[in-house]
Amino acid sequence: MALALGNRAAFKAPVAPQRVQRRVVAPRAAAAAAEVPDMNKRNIMNLLLLGGISLPVAGLGGPYLLFFVPKGAGGGTGGQAAKDALGNDVKTNAWLATHQKGDRSLTQGLKGDPTYLIVTQDGGIESYGLNAVCTHLGCVVPWVGAENKFKCPCHGSQYDSTGKKIRGPAPLSLALAHTTIAEDDTVLFSTWSETDFRTGEKPWWN
Ligand code: FES
Repeated sequence: MALALGNRAAFKAPVAPQRVQRRVVAPRAAAAAAEVPDMNKRNIMNLLLLGGISLPVAGLGGPYLLFFVPKGAGGGTGGQAAKDALGNDVKTNAWLATHQKGDRSLTQGLKGDPTYLIVTQDGGIESYGLNAVCTHLGCVVPWVGAENKFKCPCHGSQYDSTGKKIRGPAPLSLALAHTTIAEDDTVLFSTWSETDFRTGEKPWWN
């Protein structure tokens, strides 16, 4: 009896072989291939997609990049507009109408530095402006017309009418900037990279 039970436990009904459902791959692959556009169509679609993206990107990105271009620079003007005390562009005729010969008045120049705009003795705008930042410790140096020189109130440095240092402790003359007049009458400042005409030396500010 035990032998019979043991044999029954050991016995396993044979498993009927399962039918493997074979997939028909080839026709589906062929159908999928038929759905994929050929290379020419894909190139055209890519170009259309690129064109569709680049238009809004240029529309949004262009003004964003222009934000970083200083106002007045570029466009063949070759400089940055001088600004008056109210932040408006300095216009040559209006400036000369209100500033006498020999006048040295502060404007906002390159990098926002206070910069003297000079009216020449024949009533024009001088070809250079003077950065008003003292080369000693950075005070803004006032023009003293009665003495025909710039005198720093902080430690007594003095500069002549061209900004050349004539008394320390300032180690250097005032920095120069070119001035030009744009077609629309705006006064422009630009970097002075040539020899300093007052000292015959290379500009220290570059
Ligand atoms: S900051 Fe002008 S002399 Fe010192």
